[in-house]
Amino acid sequence: MAGSGTFAEIIDGDVFKYYAQGHWNKSSSGKFVPIINPTTRKTHFKVQACTQKEVNRVMESAKTAQKSWAKTPLWKRAELLHKAAAILKEHKAPIAECLVKEIAKPAKDAVTEVIRSGDLVSYCAEEGVRILGEGKFLVSDSFPGNERTKYCLTSKIPLGVVLAIPPFNYPVNLAVSKIAPALIAGNSIVLKPPTQGAVAALHMVHCFHLAGFPEGLISCVTGKGSEIGDFLTMHPGVNCISFTGGDTGIAISKKAGMVPLQMELGGKDACIVLEDADLDLAAANIVKGGFSYSGQRCTAVKVALVMESVANTLVKKINDKIAKLTVGPPEIDSDVTPVVTESSANFIEGLVMDAKEKGATFCQEYVREGNLIWPLLLDNVRPDMRIAWEEPFGPVLPVIRINSVEEGIHHCNASNFGLQGCVFTRDINKAMLISDAMETGTVQINSAPARGPDHFPFQGLKDSGIGSQGIANSINMMTKVKTTIINLPAPSYTMG
Ligand code: G3H
Repeated sequence: MAGSGTFAEIIDGDVFKYYAQGHWNKSSSGKFVPIINPTTRKTHFKVQACTQKEVNRVMESAKTAQKSWAKTPLWKRAELLHKAAAILKEHKAPIAECLVKEIAKPAKDAVTEVIRSGDLVSYCAEEGVRILGEGKFLVSDSFPGNERTKYCLTSKIPLGVVLAIPPFNYPVNLAVSKIAPALIAGNSIVLKPPTQGAVAALHMVHCFHLAGFPEGLISCVTGKGSEIGDFLTMHPGVNCISFTGGDTGIAISKKAGMVPLQMELGGKDACIVLEDADLDLAAANIVKGGFSYSGQRCTAVKVALVMESVANTLVKKINDKIAKLTVGPPEIDSDVTPVVTESSANFIEGLVMDAKEKGATFCQEYVREGNLIWPLLLDNVRPDMRIAWEEPFGPVLPVIRINSVEEGIHHCNASNFGLQGCVFTRDINKAMLISDAMETGTVQINSAPARGPDHFPFQGLKDSGIGSQGIANSINMMTKVKTTIINLPAPSYTMG
């Protein structure tokens, strides 16, 4: 059970504590934030509503702890990360249980998220030792007009305090994808978990606590966005922000000031299916890509752009697969589970109703019970429908029939988003040309979009983000270059 056994100290009564100065604390606000179970739509957990004063204290201790952490040998930092990874994986069951209750993640996927997170932390420790263990050596006489009188040594140094803000859909994995690179690089970390997913994140943080990281180096503050959201992102003590989520990221980047930003802000990932595609492969990927975790992934297939000549066959194959999806609660590992909040379900419904009014073909009946929406394929979607452009973040997938590859690429590139895209074809030359033409951070050939494996670079163009993730890119992003130049006396040509 959440908050019991190893995790007993992170809860007080029925409210989970926040983590600061190496301890689990109650907020002086005396208030809590309820976490609603998406399935039952009842309060399942409660977390502390931290105050701005408490955030100030967290920032102070993060700053102090970082100074000595940066001087801790790299191998020791790596050792602690490996320890945290092992503890995390050992406690996958209670953490996964939180994910099931807080964000309705199907039970098996919840366990996978925790294991994947442990692996990410370990990989990060290993990669960090390699990346940060070497620097550069430059000599001055390679630049015109210079003698060989200067030796330049470069190394990578930490940024300071990294603020990590992960989203509800991967509150553990997308938290550690920020925490581990920050820590191995010698930064301290302040984590602001999403409301839905906060309890899973607090459990994960406890695993880092048990590993024995120094006090103040890692903090996790919970609370209302209206009270501590802007306060955190505009805090002068923050030296870097790594955020994954929705539109809020654009607002953060406008307010954040002169700190490096790593932002991943959603997408409208297009799947282009050509006439020569393996249609069984395309259908399997479209269903998995469009409906796993009820479409609540930034890398979900969010629009299928299908050549008219194969559209009828492909749509039938997709519908056959949709008919086999199980719909229900996450505890029994249903394929499609309730979406995270009622307002999210209402938003999805708005897109569906707009498509209905404008004449889309409903391949299934639209069914909704509470936050649970049955998987729905909308065929013959046209560009005047909202769902052609907006991100439902739900189990609803539009099909737009196209008459040329150019039409598909044009639709993809007309989007404000540019996260990932995919193309199904047996012609690798065509696939490469389409990949070049698609304005997205990644193009998958003959597979649905996906972020993992977690060491691959992951980035969005346009409104989909700033910077690149993936383990090596995140480590580099959370450092800056420091140079030391040794100035030698002018060369004496008489020597030697
Ligand atoms: O929701 C955004 C995630 O970064 C997607 O990750 O492709 O592993 O589901 P995923």
